[in-house]
Amino acid sequence: MAKRDLISVVDMQDKWPELVDLAIQMKQERGNHGDPLAGKTLAMIFEKPSTRTRISFDVAITELGGHALYIDESKMQMDHGETVEDTAKVMSRFIHGIMYRAKDYKTMDKFGEFASVPVISGLDNLEHPCQALADMVTIKEKKGGFRGKKLVYLGDGNNVCNSLLYASAILGLDMVACCPAVRMPNAEIMLKASRIADENGSKIIASHDPKEACVDADILYTDTWISMGDETPVEEAVRIFKMYQINSELLDLAKPDCIVMHCLPAHRGQEITSEVIDGQHSVIFDQAENRLHAQKAVLYMLLK
Ligand code: CP
Ligand code: NVA
Repeated sequence: MAKRDLISVVDMQDKWPELVDLAIQMKQERGNHGDPLAGKTLAMIFEKPSTRTRISFDVAITELGGHALYIDESKMQMDHGETVEDTAKVMSRFIHGIMYRAKDYKTMDKFGEFASVPVISGLDNLEHPCQALADMVTIKEKKGGFRGKKLVYLGDGNNVCNSLLYASAILGLDMVACCPAVRMPNAEIMLKASRIADENGSKIIASHDPKEACVDADILYTDTWISMGDETPVEEAVRIFKMYQINSELLDLAKPDCIVMHCLPAHRGQEITSEVIDGQHSVIFDQAENRLHAQKAVLYMLLK
């Protein structure tokens, strides 16, 4: 069978409902999975820092009976002139899957093209599909499903937002990307996600007005205003994004049982207040835990 990658959410478009349910099942198994990945090694290449992605992938593969290999890209020959093509081909001879956190999605795509084993994105500048899977697992757990629910993403139209657009459209969740005009999500992804949503009877909406967007929201979501590699000065980001901060004023416009999400790391007092992160609507730490269960579902499906 041909190998499959998870570089963009849409690479596994047909599998998302199954992945969400598998992650929930694996969470219920509490680490007792019977070692389905015994003898398999996952290489994890990082070009950028990570706490959650690195640790949850390492623990996930260990609890599935396999082994994780952490690789700092700056210590690889690839960072000293070896081609991506040769690196991907050689690594495919040693290991069974590659988790890659890349600066540039073009390198990630090339890695996927030349590796003969599955390549799983641990984030690039365009998407963060494994984060979106953990997010959808959290929404299903907390809200019981996706249909008729309204997710409002506030702030920077970044990698996390782009993957949420695809995942929402695929699973039938209504999503509003509420971002400043200068920081909207990727236009092509927005268009493709809208087409998928049309087929699924759900809605993808762009907005620049947080007060209007948050009315009757079931889920409020935000991420950092300055992603890794973005050189926007903090003062400028604050100027661009301040009205998009998730605070109690915006939360009051949402439904009374609205949940608040953030992929973390958070910048308390910038995109979200401490009061909201630590408040009763926040599911942020359950969401972080779900990274582990989501990674397990992905690893099981792609490496088994
Ligand atoms: N949310 C997320 O991917 O966190 P890390 O950067 O810590 O992996
Ligand atoms: N948008 C953020 C996500 C971090 C997990 C970044 O790319 O830095």
